[in-house]
Amino acid sequence: MKLKNLIICCTIMAAASPIARADEGMWLPSLIANRIDDMHSKGFRLDAKDIYNINEASLKDAVVLFGGGCTGEIVSAEGLLLTNHHCGYSYIQSHSSVEHDYLRDGFWAMNRSEELPNPGLKVRILERMDNVTSAVLKGCSDELSAEENGKVTSENIKAIVKEAEAAGKGLKATVESMYYGNQYFLFIYKEYSDIRMVGAPPSSIGKFGGDTDNWVWPRHTGDFSMFRIYADKDNNPAEYSIDNVPYQPKKYFKIAATGIQEGDFTFIYGFPGSTLEYIHSSEVDYIQNIGDPSKIHLRTLRLNIIKRYMDSSQKIRIQYSSKYASISNAWKKWQGEEMGLRKNKTSDRKRKEEAAFSAWAEGTEYQGICDKLAALYKELEPYAFMTDYYNETARSIELASFANRYTSMIEEGSPDASSTLEKFYKDWQKEIDKECFMAVMEEFRKNVQENFQPDYFKSMISEYGDVSAWAESLFSSSLFACESSVKGMDINSLQIMKSDPAVVFARSFQQWYNTGILPQARRIKAEIRAAYKDYMRGQMEYAKVCGKSNDFYPDANLTLRVAYGHVEGYSPADGVYYTPSSTLKGIIEKDNPEIFDYNIPQILRDIYASGDFGSWTDANGQVPVCFLATNHTTGGNSGSPVINAEGNLIGINFDRVWEGTMSDIAFDPDRCRNISLDIRYVLFTLEKIAGAPHLIEEMTIIR
Ligand code: ARG
Ligand code: GLU
Repeated sequence: MKLKNLIICCTIMAAASPIARADEGMWLPSLIANRIDDMHSKGFRLDAKDIYNINEASLKDAVVLFGGGCTGEIVSAEGLLLTNHHCGYSYIQSHSSVEHDYLRDGFWAMNRSEELPNPGLKVRILERMDNVTSAVLKGCSDELSAEENGKVTSENIKAIVKEAEAAGKGLKATVESMYYGNQYFLFIYKEYSDIRMVGAPPSSIGKFGGDTDNWVWPRHTGDFSMFRIYADKDNNPAEYSIDNVPYQPKKYFKIAATGIQEGDFTFIYGFPGSTLEYIHSSEVDYIQNIGDPSKIHLRTLRLNIIKRYMDSSQKIRIQYSSKYASISNAWKKWQGEEMGLRKNKTSDRKRKEEAAFSAWAEGTEYQGICDKLAALYKELEPYAFMTDYYNETARSIELASFANRYTSMIEEGSPDASSTLEKFYKDWQKEIDKECFMAVMEEFRKNVQENFQPDYFKSMISEYGDVSAWAESLFSSSLFACESSVKGMDINSLQIMKSDPAVVFARSFQQWYNTGILPQARRIKAEIRAAYKDYMRGQMEYAKVCGKSNDFYPDANLTLRVAYGHVEGYSPADGVYYTPSSTLKGIIEKDNPEIFDYNIPQILRDIYASGDFGSWTDANGQVPVCFLATNHTTGGNSGSPVINAEGNLIGINFDRVWEGTMSDIAFDPDRCRNISLDIRYVLFTLEKIAGAPHLIEEMTIIR
């Protein structure tokens, strides 16, 4: 390489590196030996083989993928499992009824026979992971087309998975691409499917702060629930059976009730879902300037409408609280992401890196790759926009989605049709849906270029004159707007159903999207993926020149990762500093029986007034509740164990601060913080609220 380029490279790398600095990074456990010196320098006292070891028990054996989207940790020799309340929510809900409202009142099994089975819930424990790149790429060659190579690869993967799963009972294997297909890793798990619910605090503790506090610091949510893994008599995975026994793990976490201080080492072991740390500036520009703002705007319109109705009626508040929560969760996250990218000047930084990279890449196989990506993004932009718009407008209309789905179910003779019907009408308000339709479809009319609009949409607008008149007609003439008329329909009414305006709406948009948008988007995205594979390899080679090759971690893909950092507050704005821990005192300050999210159980008020907190207090005699740290986490890390320098459990991860959610794209050490539940609040709740000392006794507590 030319000396000039080397100098450019190293100067830029130092100033604006996309690779790991500070506490950034989600590392592969099997390669953690590469990071262990850095971990030690930051306070960690165990060794790499204590984190990941396939010959002896290690911390990995106590971490589980919970329900396919969260993390959990084993905390006793008898398979007791901790995760978040929001990860266990649907199971807690499914056991709840008017007589036993476990969401409202909490649930505690006082003995093993009271633990409740959860059909469908599975947890996976990683047995081992291996780099299988050469086996996956065996038979691929430059002579073959991209498509042919793709076929070879997927056949190889199928064979690898099959062989791995055949090796033992209850084994599940996946092969995951790392670094955009430059490497492949095999993950072999044991999958347990008899998972029973052991306990959950009332939502006024487990979901305290609700959507008001979601993604926000200071936080006071007791976001935990407890389960237990059951196995057959040989400790192997087995379907639910009364004869199953508590699983005996190779390893479980000891609980450190010794407390935390600002600066303490923290280590998160879990299953982060998805990040985009190595993308080109064009993709950042799209997310920051077009994608996020459009989606935020469309959701703001819907949330305002829903909230107005929820505030007006208790019944509607209950009907829409879960829908509101899921719409607002991403909405708030995108706002933080968009703001964080802007403040961090992420795309400017990336452009500088790309310029330096391109100068270095001249004359190499990577020459021109950045320009190619920029051009591909330009081409993708209208299709990406249409996809975002379609999802947040036409696809968000509840009536149309239901009518479409229900019609298909009747056509296919699905046995679930009647339960789907009941579920839909139980929680549906026509006026809300209609107002949302008017709001978002009007945005569609204004913001989607006419040449991209579906013909169906244009003909509706010309027939009715405007969106409101169209909505009035659709919601009054659709048979699906009335539960009793839908109940009267069966396979003989299929033609009527198919020509119903709500079904026509859903299917016309679907048809437009599937034929006019999706194929183009897919084609361009395939080209982008191929270019990213080269770009990623180029970035890694380029970093090697500067001695930084050790600092790459693959994007999150719901595989087990290590993220280490430390307890630290942050400054969200000039003149403001947030300290890193919250206490029960803050819950009492927020307490307000008039505000649903802040209405706490009377027993908590009484305990606070009595000052009898057991042994679960901090140095000031307060009950600690949550804390902030600098660990690099994302969705999927919910429920992850937060581990101290000695490898013991100090908390359960459950959220990030919204100002730092840009860490999915670029980690900014100044504002990216994860939020964890302090384990002492779990112990306090078990002792003082649940009256479940047997669960505390089952764990190993370091006091
Ligand atoms: N923000 C957290 C996550 O992304 C928690 C979501 C559940 N809580 C809520 N209030 N909606 O999953
Ligand atoms: N609440 C998220 C989850 O369910 C974790 C928050 C985040 O995105 O970091 O996984």
